[in-house]
Amino acid sequence: MLNNDIENVMISKDEIKAVVKDLSRQIERDYKDKFPIILGLLKGCVPFMADLLKELDFHLEIAFMNVSSYHGGMESSGEVKIEMDLGSPVKDRHVIIAEDIVDSGRTIQSVVELLKYRGAKSVKVVTLMDKPEGRVIDFVPEYIGKTIPKAFVVGYGLDYQERYRNLPYVGTLKPKIYMTEE
Ligand code: PRP
Repeated sequence: MLNNDIENVMISKDEIKAVVKDLSRQIERDYKDKFPIILGLLKGCVPFMADLLKELDFHLEIAFMNVSSYHGGMESSGEVKIEMDLGSPVKDRHVIIAEDIVDSGRTIQSVVELLKYRGAKSVKVVTLMDKPEGRVIDFVPEYIGKTIPKAFVVGYGLDYQERYRNLPYVGTLKPKIYMTEE
């Protein structure tokens, strides 16, 4: 059913699987003796984080924060708001932030700065997708699954007005989906 609203598949289910495996190997190599906190930024991180965690075979802690910048639409509002803070203290801990996408870079930059201010020993970012053409600030994630062009994508955690997060792949929407809504 959701398939019918998709114009192009940008990252297929199989490709996501391979990318997640590759990222997990890199993270495992760098963190296996460090007992890091993997911090997911809700809600978009959920499918990616769940799949990534299952590939990581070493001790780690998981935590979540809900930081929002889009407020349901297609363009970043430019405002980053902490809706839910993480419960675990990050002082002297290695933190890996898990993101579905880095676009303008505002969300991730503000979270990285906050964690450093709180005394994290190190802060790195793993993102399934990187959209460098969307950047308004200078930010380069350490672990990038796939670099994508400047298009609005949904699926595998990414939403359009809270829908499509449950698609098992990433794709672009047919224009009629967002043009019929006003
Ligand atoms: C999306 C996405 C990233 C952020 C990327 O989250 O999950 O966190 O935007 O955009 P940026 O680099 O331009 O800041 P959103 O704020 O829409 O919340 P959500 O994860 O609940 O969809």
